[in-house]
Amino acid sequence: MPTSSTPDPAVSAAPVPAEVAAPYGSAIPATASRVRTHHLQAAKLNGQKFAMLTAYDQYTAQIFDEAGIEVLLVGDSASNNVLGNETSLPITLDEMIIFSRAVTAGAKRALVVADLPFGSYEQSPGQAIASSVRLMKEGLVHAVKMEGGAYYAPTVRALTQAGVPVMAHIGFTPQSEHMLGGYRVQGRGDAARAMVDDAVALAEAGAFCVLMEMVPAATATAVDAAVAVPTVGIGAGNTTTGQVLVWQDMAGLRTGKMAKFVKQYAQLRTILSDAAKAYGDEVRTGAFPGPEHTF
Ligand code: KIV
Repeated sequence: MPTSSTPDPAVSAAPVPAEVAAPYGSAIPATASRVRTHHLQAAKLNGQKFAMLTAYDQYTAQIFDEAGIEVLLVGDSASNNVLGNETSLPITLDEMIIFSRAVTAGAKRALVVADLPFGSYEQSPGQAIASSVRLMKEGLVHAVKMEGGAYYAPTVRALTQAGVPVMAHIGFTPQSEHMLGGYRVQGRGDAARAMVDDAVALAEAGAFCVLMEMVPAATATAVDAAVAVPTVGIGAGNTTTGQVLVWQDMAGLRTGKMAKFVKQYAQLRTILSDAAKAYGDEVRTGAFPGPEHTF
């Protein structure tokens, strides 16, 4: 695996020729039938970007995959966004496997990464391997994401040696929200140096990518410069190799206050609500089902 000091020799530093660029201006060659971690590495080397979205079910996975989103994340945010919990903490490994299986059924080209949920990796590298093997064997995902800093470098090393690609998640780590005192920007001021050290330790341990959540752009830029592997940001400015958003935020399905870093590209809640109201009205008036929908 590439580390911060040793670029992956299998990856060409040459820019991707225009004729093999995938639709929608993707950094991944159109000839690639599956997005691989080395494509993300090449994107960083070539100064290109990639996009990542969460997905928790077959249809959204299919839609995002066909739209050219390079990486799909089966986030433990399914806990809040699908199961209706207040935080990501209650979701179980078994539940993550069900969501993972649905997403991998829909995603034909994207790299699918699943979160190791709270309680499934902290005890030991062995526990992390056992949980990751289940996500890969039963959920059919291609890689796992794990929250935590340099303390978890030995776990990342054990996972990568066991054949599990790891995306490291630093900055605001939602599983630690009670330790961190709520949703707060991380890596400000003096804490920036520690965040760079975390990223370097995790990349050197074999993480193929470092994701940063709610980090000042200057800190994210310093982290990105310190590691050879690609970085992904969510509320971390625009100098990272990739960006990720929770799909319900991005598509306007969720209600309530949005974080500053969320951009809404659609108003799906309004569209669905209008469809449900129209259906309800037609059922009540007897307009549905009409003759064209009747045997
Ligand atoms: O679970 C999730 O959706 C995440 C993103 C916020 C990066 O970890």
